[in-house]
Amino acid sequence: MGPSEFIIERSNFKMAFTFFFRDLHTIELTVKHLLPSISGRNRVRIWDAGCAMGPEPYTLAIVLAENMGRFAFRNITIDATDIDESDTFGKIVTEGVYPEDELKRIPADIFEKYFRPADKPGYCAIDETVRSRMQFRKHDLLTLESVGEDYSLIVCKNVLLHFHPDQRIEVIKMFHNSLAPGGYFMSEQTQKLPDELSHLFTKVADDAQLYKKI
Ligand SMILES: C[S@@+](CC[C@H](N)C(=O)[O-])C[C@H]1O[C@@H](n2cnc3c(N)ncnc32)[C@H](O)[C@@H]1O
Repeated sequence: MGPSEFIIERSNFKMAFTFFFRDLHTIELTVKHLLPSISGRNRVRIWDAGCAMGPEPYTLAIVLAENMGRFAFRNITIDATDIDESDTFGKIVTEGVYPEDELKRIPADIFEKYFRPADKPGYCAIDETVRSRMQFRKHDLLTLESVGEDYSLIVCKNVLLHFHPDQRIEVIKMFHNSLAPGGYFMSEQTQKLPDELSHLFTKVADDAQLYKKI
């Protein structure tokens, strides 16, 4: 690898800043609202758009598994997508293997339950029940093409801020079309829904950017 390639790779990782159990408040609140709406369903689709190396969708999956029980959790599928310009996230998300240093924020009891030492020293692998629910796909949100339909929840955090306001509106419209009736859209604390789209969603909570499709 030449020096310029190294700089490009490093800048992609900087843009892909993420960590396990980030903004747990919003994730827990979302799960609390989501669960009654998917109760009894045998197929529940979730899309995490801009998932980086996977800590965000895996955190969501663990919180869901904890709250649903293992049997019902098997009905969940999470489409984890990212533009993945460094072409490295797919392997990481698919394998679910992370350096121990990146797992230190995870509460001890959850860590014990969902991780085991990996073959590689200093790394841990996520439990197969969680890993098997995750499927990674390379995808550019700015194509405005959805990766699926009938989603009960779409998560897009710390991604839209990189886009031009007009692009942001078009991407959120595409999310709206991809959600099932009454589906949820979760964004980061600082990302308010553009006024132009207020007729499409109801805000679910005062202290989180969590919206329900109208
Ligand atoms: C700061 S990270 C956010 C990761 C995670 N969502 C979180 O909040 O912890 C931003 C991610 O957006 C991805 N991204 C940037 N532009 C994108 C695009 N046009 N389509 C899909 N993903 C994109 C980057 O590759 C990066 O992984």
